[in-house]
Amino acid sequence: MAAQDPIGLFDSGVGGLSIMKEVRRLLPQEDLIYVADSKFCPYGEKTPAAIQDRARKITTFLLTQGAKLIVVACNTASVAALNELRAEFAVPFIGVEPAVKQAALFTKNKKIGVLATGLTLSGERFTSLVENYGGGLTVVNQACPGLVEAVEAGEISGPGTERLLQKYLQPLQEKGVDVVVLGCTHYPFLRPLVEKLVAPGVRVLDTGTPVAKQTKRVLTENKLLTPGPRAGKEWFYTSGDPAVVSPVIERLWGGRGAGVAALPAPYLTLRSLEEE
Ligand code: DGL
Repeated sequence: MAAQDPIGLFDSGVGGLSIMKEVRRLLPQEDLIYVADSKFCPYGEKTPAAIQDRARKITTFLLTQGAKLIVVACNTASVAALNELRAEFAVPFIGVEPAVKQAALFTKNKKIGVLATGLTLSGERFTSLVENYGGGLTVVNQACPGLVEAVEAGEISGPGTERLLQKYLQPLQEKGVDVVVLGCTHYPFLRPLVEKLVAPGVRVLDTGTPVAKQTKRVLTENKLLTPGPRAGKEWFYTSGDPAVVSPVIERLWGGRGAGVAALPAPYLTLRSLEEE
């Protein structure tokens, strides 16, 4: 591992780009390689074993590309696979988790809402996060089937997405939460809609900035920061159809030359659980 090597990031699809944007903002000199695991999206409806299998394969691919650090830019994959990845691979990993800690600092009425996948909300990581930081708070958890798919289709502002979001925000509004945590990396792309739908004064939090800061901290500690100034490059890969995924990545990334390549064949499989 050398300081000039790239940072690898992955997600079940395009959601992790919300994390990558903050990493790019904080670390302009770094080269970044992103894998959208579109063929196996959404992770929220997979078993932990299936997500672990995908996370292992993508990590192996990112290591062939020389990744010096890997950001698991997905709450669900962090819940399902981060411990296993850390046990198996020597490269440093950064995971993501819903911003419950920050929400506890911001809430005035002690009521917060968390939007995430069902798998994130039912995981042990989330339970202990709420135990550690949510003491004395009312925490309203809301799984949001369909939202990941909407973002994957690039539908971040249409009436269908708005209706779905309205439905998921309703229980939070009824409880009168004053902070909404976006606990899935796809949801920051829906932030304008969320802000339009919640009551005035409700704070909306995501984890892009803290994850980018943690990435910088770990690179600094390991003496792996790419020396600047230079403009870092980005590479994008997908396990899905690049012709379909490319326009969505271009739109969400901001159209900055986001050519998308196909993930090579050895990394495209999902081990069937019967083989175990
Ligand atoms: N972006 C992923 C997350 O943060 C989405 C999970 C999914 O694919 O269901 O949880």
